[in-house]
Amino acid sequence: MQVTKINNRRYLGNKYRLLPFISDVIAKECGNFETFADIFAGTGAVSSAYTDKTLYTNDILYSNYLCHLTWFSDEAFDIQKIEKYIDYYNSDLPYEENYMTDNFSDTYFSRKNCSKIGFIRENIENEFNAGKINTRERAMLVTSLLYGIDKIANTCGHYDAYRKGVEFPESFTMCVPEPNINLKHNHCYNEDTNELVKNISADVVYIDPPYNSRQYCDAYHLIENIARWEKPEVFGVAKKMDRTALKSKYCTRSAPSAFKDLIDNLNAKYIVVSYNNMANKGNDRSNARISDTQILDTLKTKGKVKTYSEQFKAFTTGKSEHLDNEERLFVCKCK
Ligand SMILES: C[S@@+](CC[C@H](N)C(=O)[O-])C[C@H]1O[C@@H](n2cnc3c(N)ncnc32)[C@H](O)[C@@H]1O
Repeated sequence: MQVTKINNRRYLGNKYRLLPFISDVIAKECGNFETFADIFAGTGAVSSAYTDKTLYTNDILYSNYLCHLTWFSDEAFDIQKIEKYIDYYNSDLPYEENYMTDNFSDTYFSRKNCSKIGFIRENIENEFNAGKINTRERAMLVTSLLYGIDKIANTCGHYDAYRKGVEFPESFTMCVPEPNINLKHNHCYNEDTNELVKNISADVVYIDPPYNSRQYCDAYHLIENIARWEKPEVFGVAKKMDRTALKSKYCTRSAPSAFKDLIDNLNAKYIVVSYNNMANKGNDRSNARISDTQILDTLKTKGKVKTYSEQFKAFTTGKSEHLDNEERLFVCKCK
């Protein structure tokens, strides 16, 4: 049976390709440490480099939280059971009308694939409610579904729009997530980071907030909708649900004060901040919400700060063009 790994997913700002740079800097600056907090964890790619440590992961999106449970929870799971479910979900399932066909037919997915997605997601929930699968197993099955449908979605990698008049793929395949074994007793959270940091501490805290006004809950509304499975009403051409509670302050003009509040409340030996330089590209949506000076001034209130940078090719969604980009790391050794 096909397996899948953490990086087998498209996600804006995913740091998987930057891991060599990030882990080199952390090794050089932070030396040996025991606890690592990834408090804007997204896919969890950065945490995946630290599975020998005790991890704290967090993201405001529930879909990411379920992925974190899959990759980092230490709850036991029965791999044979997971394989059996995935085998069944990959079989020829009966067509049915459901929440997905009613709302998303021939948009991001064909009517037939909507039927399959709705059937599988409902089945996972029913099996969980009947006590046949535990929290980790539920997370693994949902993660497998989200990774599987991401491969065939009629999008440019995000769900702001779908292309009209395309030929849809026949079906999609779910793969078995293969998490690391021997994980520590890790902690996964699904909260606003500014609240979470009041209650946790870690040796190294890694901070990778959104840079610009593009809200992740807008780009991934359908993934989030399927993960939550509360079947809300959806609106507009893009078929988005109400996302008021999922909006991030880091995408708004209050980002600098949110960042200051976050840093004030942090309890860490080292703070490592990723922030790229897409500032002032002439397009308000791409402009960085926090300036370098604001980042430096805020971090300096906690200790001594060093800056590292690396050139990389950023993939711009929409057109298949690449922009030269610079990713920076600000490392603060706290007093
Ligand atoms: C740049 S991405 C992180 C990417 C991640 N490092 C990776 O490699 O996949 C920023 C993440 O922060 C999350 N986020 C935004 N505001 C947040 C908040 N206030 N609290 C928690 N998570 C937040 C977004 O949902 C998004 O997943």
